[in-house]
Amino acid sequence: VKLLKEKKFAINYSKKANEIKHLVKDDLARIDDYLKLNLISENKLTGEIITHILNSEGKRIRPLLSVITAKALNYDKAEIYYLACAVELIHTATLLHDDVIDESDKRRGFNTVNNIWDNKSAILAGDFIFAKSFELMVKTKNLNVLDNLARASSVISEGEIAQLELLNTKEISLAKYLEVISAKTARLFAEACRNSVVIASGNEVLEKALYDFGNNLGIIFQIIDDMLDYFGDEKSLGKSIGDDFFENKITLPIILLAQELKEESVILQEILAKDNKQDSDFRQVLSLMKKFNIKEKSRQFTMSYNELALSCLTVLPNSPSKALLQDILEVSIYRLN
Ligand code: IPE
Ligand code: IPE
Ligand code: MG
Ligand code: MG
Repeated sequence: VKLLKEKKFAINYSKKANEIKHLVKDDLARIDDYLKLNLISENKLTGEIITHILNSEGKRIRPLLSVITAKALNYDKAEIYYLACAVELIHTATLLHDDVIDESDKRRGFNTVNNIWDNKSAILAGDFIFAKSFELMVKTKNLNVLDNLARASSVISEGEIAQLELLNTKEISLAKYLEVISAKTARLFAEACRNSVVIASGNEVLEKALYDFGNNLGIIFQIIDDMLDYFGDEKSLGKSIGDDFFENKITLPIILLAQELKEESVILQEILAKDNKQDSDFRQVLSLMKKFNIKEKSRQFTMSYNELALSCLTVLPNSPSKALLQDILEVSIYRLN
């Protein structure tokens, strides 16, 4: 019965993901046009890295959230695309730096910039793209947007730094994990949605609700990303599996596993304490996760955030765009089958 249930999710997921892609294809094309037009460099190396990045497309979930939120409020002017692209570029710059920090070799199905070029180039290109995101923020001509995104940028950095500190303590703490993912991931999702309201309507009740929607969706999104690092498939994910484990990053699957273990908890502690983790260690942790249903328990954990996110959307009048926001939430949860 369980297998059947999972199969059903798998079919629904790809069907739904394709439906969403079809519905937003014009928005996606416009976002990509704005990105291309605004990411130009006279410098040869910078230009090459930009070309590499623009050719290896991401899912564009954050800019889509900005555009769709605005459409749910009947707003579709250029400012929203400047906002959307500013948000996507903050994300892109963060990924360039994140892949250096995490020593990751694969991203969006291609080798990472740090892998093809080197760490220094990736960091400098990240700085360039981050600076470009601020130029785009200014083009929204809205100081509140600039204020919100500037603050979010520092919070994201603090989230990555807090995560780095946690690596050294090897502490397994759900509260600290949630703090880190709220800062490094959920905040940008929240701002992607909130600032659309700032531009499109300025209604404070709506602003708060859409911020909370983005925040809850962002937490779910990072939890699923962390699950994919254990249970995902490298090919469809476009990045390597097991990075978090080998890097000693404590994420939800490990936290929930540690909570379940009794006599086996020594085994997990021993593995986590190892400086040089082997593939066999990863496989052993995976089999413990399987034994204790950690995949299901992790997904179950996202359900309260899902309820919260859905309830935030009640402030919006019913519309195809509101339905799309609900669909993106659902697809985010089931992108891991
Ligand atoms: C990856 O984000 C980093 C996380 C916050 C989990 P995405 O999964 O949105 O990356 P792209 O942009 O689609 O490659
Ligand atoms: C996402 O964290 C990075 C930020 C949001 C800053 P991860 O390290 O989990 O993202 P991936 O797995 O490399 O995409
Ligand atoms: Mg990473
Ligand atoms: Mg990850």
